[in-house]
Amino acid sequence: MEQKIPHRLRRNRRSENIRRLVRETSLAVEDLIWPLFVHDHPHDTSVESMPGVSRLSPDSLLRACERAARLGIPAVAIFPCIDTALKDASGSYAFGPDNLLFHAVREVKNQFPDLVVITDVALDPYTSHGHDGVLEGGDVDNDATVAVLCRLAVLEAAAGSDFVAPSDMMDGRVGAIRRALDEAGFQQTGILSYAAKYCSAYYGPFRDAVGSKVGKDAISKSGYQMDPANVREAVREVELDLAEGADIVMVKPAGPYLDVIRAVRERIDAPLAAYQVSGEYAQIHAAARLGWLDYERVRDESLLAIKRAGADMILTYFAPEVAAAL
Ligand code: PBG
Repeated sequence: MEQKIPHRLRRNRRSENIRRLVRETSLAVEDLIWPLFVHDHPHDTSVESMPGVSRLSPDSLLRACERAARLGIPAVAIFPCIDTALKDASGSYAFGPDNLLFHAVREVKNQFPDLVVITDVALDPYTSHGHDGVLEGGDVDNDATVAVLCRLAVLEAAAGSDFVAPSDMMDGRVGAIRRALDEAGFQQTGILSYAAKYCSAYYGPFRDAVGSKVGKDAISKSGYQMDPANVREAVREVELDLAEGADIVMVKPAGPYLDVIRAVRERIDAPLAAYQVSGEYAQIHAAARLGWLDYERVRDESLLAIKRAGADMILTYFAPEVAAAL
């Protein structure tokens, strides 16, 4: 005999088409931002800890951007990998006319004017010590760094970046960068702020990719990046960056910080990005290689979870293959 169960939620799970009707979250190609690495070499080199990801030659970068455009991916984030010999304590290569990043951005915007280009504003690709700013007595000096980042942001805007993305976590940098951009005539250049960026061990493979890991040991950025234990502080960071003029705010990493994405989403109406970082990508690949997880299902589920938590857009190294699958 049929039992009297008043609510049978399984009715809505009976077939794929019913499930499609009641589905609350979906991932779309327009949610994706593809991070790309460029270096000043004629050949690509693979990043060992990030299967499928390479440091691209300038020509390969253009081919990747062409692929992004073809797949309908709206935006790329371009990260430079600088030869160790060109790095120094103040990151002076960043401000020279030869900066590989500026050439790359110019070329990409030339050939793919509709593709949104995002560039980090931070010194870590350029400094010999790997920190995001200027060191002063062993600590990153906030205000000196902000002044330098303003110069870098203006140069990136001049090269054609659509959004500059301060990823350094200095206090007051969004407001200062906004003023610097406006004064230089770049009123239309946006700021995508790494607003709540945690001091995370999940960035390890990225630091391999850009060579910002100095020696064997990881440097500590705990004096400026956020403590992984905090969530209310993330809301404060985001609110401050918006008050200072950020156009889009970001939470990073994404997967281990879904509660932060949710908390921020509930407090703000501005567009919210989340960065599924290198370590999140690496761990899915590693488990799949061991045969311990179903690669495609876990990949898709990881991205859906970030959307469900409240992100409007996701930076992810999976972008091209997911876009192709969608
Ligand atoms: C640089 C920067 C980092 C990442 C993006 N921009 C590394 C860091 O702060 O050390 C990490 C991205 C990733 O792990 O995929 N400030």
